Amino acid sequence: MPNIVVVGTQWGDEGKGKVVDVITPHVDVVVRYQGGNNAGHTVVVGREKYVLQSIPSGILHRGRRCVVGCGVVVNPGALIEEMEALVRRGVVLDGNLFISKNAHLIMPYHPALDRASEAKLGSRRIGTTGRGVGPAYVDKAARVGIRVGDLLNERLFREKLEMNVAQKNRLLREIYDAPTFSVAEILDQYLRYAGWLAPYVTDTALLLTRWIESGYSVLFEGAQGTMLDIDHGTYPFITSSSTTAGGAATGTGVPPTRIHGVLGVAKAYTTRVGGGPFPAEMSGKIAEHVQARGNEYGSVTGRPRRCGWFDAMVLRYAVRVNGLDTVALTKLDVLDQCAAIKICTAYRYQGGILTDFPEDETVVAEAEPVYEEIEGWLATTSGAKNEVDLPAKARRYLERLEELIGVPFCLISTGAQRDETILCETSPLLRWFPSVRSSVL
Ligand code: GDP
Ligand code: IMO
Ligand code: MG
Repeated sequence: MPNIVVVGTQWGDEGKGKVVDVITPHVDVVVRYQGGNNAGHTVVVGREKYVLQSIPSGILHRGRRCVVGCGVVVNPGALIEEMEALVRRGVVLDGNLFISKNAHLIMPYHPALDRASEAKLGSRRIGTTGRGVGPAYVDKAARVGIRVGDLLNERLFREKLEMNVAQKNRLLREIYDAPTFSVAEILDQYLRYAGWLAPYVTDTALLLTRWIESGYSVLFEGAQGTMLDIDHGTYPFITSSSTTAGGAATGTGVPPTRIHGVLGVAKAYTTRVGGGPFPAEMSGKIAEHVQARGNEYGSVTGRPRRCGWFDAMVLRYAVRVNGLDTVALTKLDVLDQCAAIKICTAYRYQGGILTDFPEDETVVAEAEPVYEEIEGWLATTSGAKNEVDLPAKARRYLERLEELIGVPFCLISTGAQRDETILCETSPLLRWFPSVRSSVL
């Protein structure tokens, strides 16, 4: 059974939650491999809207196993709140949710350090979600992090906590002039969390391997997007984890040889939350229109998302660094009322033309987009069941995008609902999961 990665191809919020939810009935397991509660993955089911942050977006399908992999950073208080909210809405977690022992914990001093560091950076600030995700990964790399499994060993947990609080308090007090933390308070709070989470904590790498050996199919759910990847994104305006497909192996313990395909999720345009270069950014009336029609406000922080045109440079780069087999294109309906639509095909830089995304902060910041303009379709796309039902000009837009990025689309999404999804005729999804043909799509 195939195991596939679903990865964001732009700067996050591409609609990964919706795409994962739509594919989940065809797999057995969904595993998150990086990020933390900086993510906000929306799934809309009828009148119900769910925003998943640390729990995989497959959880709404009864009987599907969901795993929080070792590459994720877990804020236990936030995770428990998320779990309780789902249980209140009738979602069954027992027997379906598994949390890696090796995932690192977000501790109370991490959000404090995140905010203090942002304040100090001034105009160079990243515009983080303030959830402490970056500082938690700092500790992981510095080998002083505390893992979920440590919660289950009080003596070890206390020892690691004491060392960390002493170190972080000095940092907070002397570098940032910020309030400090008490070991006793954190210990008390985290040991309560430990009791709550213990039944879900296990060696998920071993479980995943056993499940794969017994023929289960696994979907790896990426958070954020390719351009926010710690190595391949627009550094330093990135998140602190490996968001790209390679992270699926290290962030779960499933070897790359057991991964059979990669599906990228892209919006029909582009958005970005927070600071950093954004070559195809829109401005003026069109930016306001797309932001309003696409409801482009962060699912986690409520911040307005910056909007831009579809950037084929970014997508070609995402195809290359993730090895994308196919792309699910979302939010096509948001462009329904645009009289003219631009596509960024290349960048102009110092008199020359770039056709490969430049891995250089200053080049990206100074690059000018080269646009191609097509006529808008000025008709509704929502509700179309097949590609042929789409307005001819919308089909032309899709064909041009496919041509520019070099891989075929598998799904076209024209609304947040599950059934506002078109399965493309030549979709590689059909090869991976033949049952997709007769599903909710
Ligand atoms: P994620 O982080 O990649 O899962 O994306 P988010 O959930 O943060 O943001 C995507 C937003 O667009 C959510 O509010 C979705 O409900 C919504 N959405 C997803 N697909 C579509 C679509 O095709 N059309 C429209 N209009 N909204 C969509
Ligand atoms: P999903 O999974 C969009 C952005 C932040 C900031 C940068 C670093 O819903 O697509 P961090 O808090 O991670 O240290 O912030 O990354 N960012 C996201 N942008 N969608 C997300 O997640 C994001 N998670 C982080 O806005 O620019
Ligand atoms: Mg999101």
